[in-house]
Amino acid sequence: MDIHITVEHLAFDQLKADDRELIERAKQMTFTSYAPYSDFHVGAALQLSNGQVYTGSNQENAAFGIALCAERTAFFAAGANSPEVPPVAIAIAARSGEEFTAQPVSPCGSCRQALLEAETRFKQPIRVLLYGTEGVYVVSKVADLLPLNFDGTLMK
Ligand code: THU
Repeated sequence: MDIHITVEHLAFDQLKADDRELIERAKQMTFTSYAPYSDFHVGAALQLSNGQVYTGSNQENAAFGIALCAERTAFFAAGANSPEVPPVAIAIAARSGEEFTAQPVSPCGSCRQALLEAETRFKQPIRVLLYGTEGVYVVSKVADLLPLNFDGTLMK
């Protein structure tokens, strides 16, 4: 079996205005990150089908293992406040110290799994916009970032 995914690689200026705006929200959110241990400041902006945007940033702790990533902070806020509205896109950006990363920043496996739940539940793809100063990766759905994934339908 071969598994293929398509990742678009675009310059920031080639993106549509909506996508640029979502990325700007993610970039802004890096400044609310609490990351004294890693100095890696991640911001996420999650757009819902009704146009609402929920944002998040990574929140670390002296007990390292309980830190929460930016993506899940945004995603759980959306789930808690707009439980019936499907997410349609997420933008992610990160700064290491003062500088935004040159390479696009990619969500960790746990965040991919968390986002996948909404794709499965709402049967609607969530576009993923990964920002780097040298370019942006666009993936058309979370499932592409998690081949052979585990979702609830397997338990039925
Ligand atoms: N982090 C995120 O917020 N999102 C990711 O997808 C990758 C990692 C955070 C967790 C931790 O606070 C810091 O980045 C370093 O791993």
